[in-house]
Amino acid sequence: MIDPRATGLTKARYNRIAGVFDCMEYLLERRARVWRERLWSQVGPGRVLEVGIGTGKNMPYYPQGIEICGIDLSDGMLARARKRAVRNHIAIDLREMDVQALGFPDNSFDTAVATFVFCSVPDPIRGMRELARVVKPGGKILLLEHVRLDRPFVGWLMDLLNPLVVRMMGANINRRTVENVLQAGLELKSAEDITANGLVKLITARPGGNSEKERTAPAPQGR
Ligand SMILES: C[S@@+](CC[C@H](N)C(=O)[O-])C[C@H]1O[C@@H](n2cnc3c(N)ncnc32)[C@H](O)[C@@H]1O
Repeated sequence: MIDPRATGLTKARYNRIAGVFDCMEYLLERRARVWRERLWSQVGPGRVLEVGIGTGKNMPYYPQGIEICGIDLSDGMLARARKRAVRNHIAIDLREMDVQALGFPDNSFDTAVATFVFCSVPDPIRGMRELARVVKPGGKILLLEHVRLDRPFVGWLMDLLNPLVVRMMGANINRRTVENVLQAGLELKSAEDITANGLVKLITARPGGNSEKERTAPAPQGR
């Protein structure tokens, strides 16, 4: 079940920082550009869903030949994405929506992308299962995420500081996102360390046989 309190808090936090989000991330973004470029170079033609689109920082990297839909929980962040799309003449269907309960039919997209999103989704496993449901069999799920470092002191420090960071920025710094991908029943293809210390990962997955779509599909006749 979706936790309405946690989801409401996440939305309120991102609405609060929407106006300063790009400034807050200015320095990080200088490094993130190459990561974004790398992720989007793996997106093929077809229908693409970008979840947690935020202020639209991925827009400059969208490849040609895609039909793109972007969703976000925060109307404040979406308003900025809308302005960026207009400024850059990008045709995009933007909608306010929660990744934990996507309003799309099964198998709607060829690819789903999320960058730095599953650190803030209250129930990331539920959100990932939703991605598996709306992505076509054989389609791609691409995630760029910072994760908890499993080193004794650093991991402990991340756990310690996490409540403070969540309060200020809405993001958890101690999520085990690769493990969450597996728990969600997605088929993990790769989890590439995109930074030398293993903090940021480029995760490639496919909707797995254990996904929500498979589990809720009616049993085939004759079994
Ligand atoms: C750290 S920002 C990243 C924004 C953008 N993807 C980027 O790379 O700059 C996280 C975004 O995820 C959105 N988000 C958090 N929880 C969400 C949910 N349950 N459903 C949809 N979007 C969500 C937030 O509103 C925010 O815009």
